[in-house]
Amino acid sequence: EIVDVDAREILDSRGRPTLRVTAATAAHRTSASVPSGASTGRNEAHELRDGDPDRYGGAGVRRAIGSVTGELRDLVRSRAWPGLAELDEAMVDLDATANRARLGANAIIGVSMAVSRLFAHHENLPLWSWLRLPRRSARLPVPHFNVLNGGAHAQTALAFQEFMIAPLGATSTAEAVRAGADVYRSLRTLLVAAGHGVGLGDEGGFAPQLTQPEDALKLLVQAIAAAGYPLGDTGVSIALDPAASQFRQDDGRYRIGDERLSSAELVERYREIVHAFPVRSIEDGMAEDDDPGWRELTDRLGERIQLVGDDNFVTDAGLIRRAAARGIANAALIKPNQVGTVTETLGAIQACRDHGYTWMISHRSGETADDFIADLAVGTGAGQIKAGAPARGERVAKYNRLMDIETDHPGLPYGVQPLPGEHSAR
Ligand code: PGA
Ligand code: ZN
Repeated sequence: EIVDVDAREILDSRGRPTLRVTAATAAHRTSASVPSGASTGRNEAHELRDGDPDRYGGAGVRRAIGSVTGELRDLVRSRAWPGLAELDEAMVDLDATANRARLGANAIIGVSMAVSRLFAHHENLPLWSWLRLPRRSARLPVPHFNVLNGGAHAQTALAFQEFMIAPLGATSTAEAVRAGADVYRSLRTLLVAAGHGVGLGDEGGFAPQLTQPEDALKLLVQAIAAAGYPLGDTGVSIALDPAASQFRQDDGRYRIGDERLSSAELVERYREIVHAFPVRSIEDGMAEDDDPGWRELTDRLGERIQLVGDDNFVTDAGLIRRAAARGIANAALIKPNQVGTVTETLGAIQACRDHGYTWMISHRSGETADDFIADLAVGTGAGQIKAGAPARGERVAKYNRLMDIETDHPGLPYGVQPLPGEHSAR
């Protein structure tokens, strides 16, 4: 029986306020901290902020805390909850808005995560094991380290937001983490040698003054080679999140440096990039409302690489199912705070399973030391996670948790998820 939920204001990795929620039974207390995005999809669940210009420029979260210590606490105490799904559904009903705007998705997801930990503890299971899906085995995901930042996460002319490295050829999390750190280190050396700054973007990747995505990709390829790893599936592969909504102009063209590309021209640009570089995955290659562009991208590259929907799917099972029916993307990014409850997050993953889509678990650019998503990735057998650079406390918290799970539970396989019908790691 849950006897209390509480919340307090803490800072996230950008120095903005967020919530840490605690949940307690008579015998045990758990907590969870809530992340926050900067390049958000239009249909994301609503993050409730105070709007009081005298505190944190309006970004305070006292109202969301009030939701936890008021209506949500009353709800939690009102009955004995048989499971998380019932509580999550009741919180959504209590909020009674389409996008969690009244109580705040940040309040609701905090309670949902903290209570998940309470249930896991009650059943004497590690969180990842409690989050397991029916008919799916747990697996340690391939970390996608965001080592070079642009877009909304850096103050440079580089349009693409994330340049990630994925150690597909590693055979364990520990090896993958080492590969990530090795490449990160060699990238730093290359940047210094080329006279670039080594300041960091929001997710801990370097943010050099580059304009062309191909120049960033060349640096990545050099860094991987200099660190001594083969390129591609047997070593270290590359994944991109251009976050194209952010560089699409009002006239529908995509702005890359001095160029203004049509959707078709951007798709062609991606085709050339995939031809020239070992890129295994492109997330948000097109803007969230550019359905024709998304379809063309999927038609032309969907058989060769992973195409991940983030801004357009916002971890919403319904949106994923609708996109699958229209042939858009072949994978979804999964961010619990985009939708607002852990139960709905698992529902979005189920939608992926039903439609043969892969899924990648994700942090937000504004993060805390909370490592919930590491367990979510392992338990759901996602096979892929992105949690930023292999540097900075709020990023490495997730990777370190993965290494802990690996050490404490020998025998869990490492690698991207097998395709439907397949059972091997790769
Ligand atoms: P955000 O972006 O956390 O700043 O919204 C991350 C992403 O686009 O994947
Ligand atoms: Zn994204």
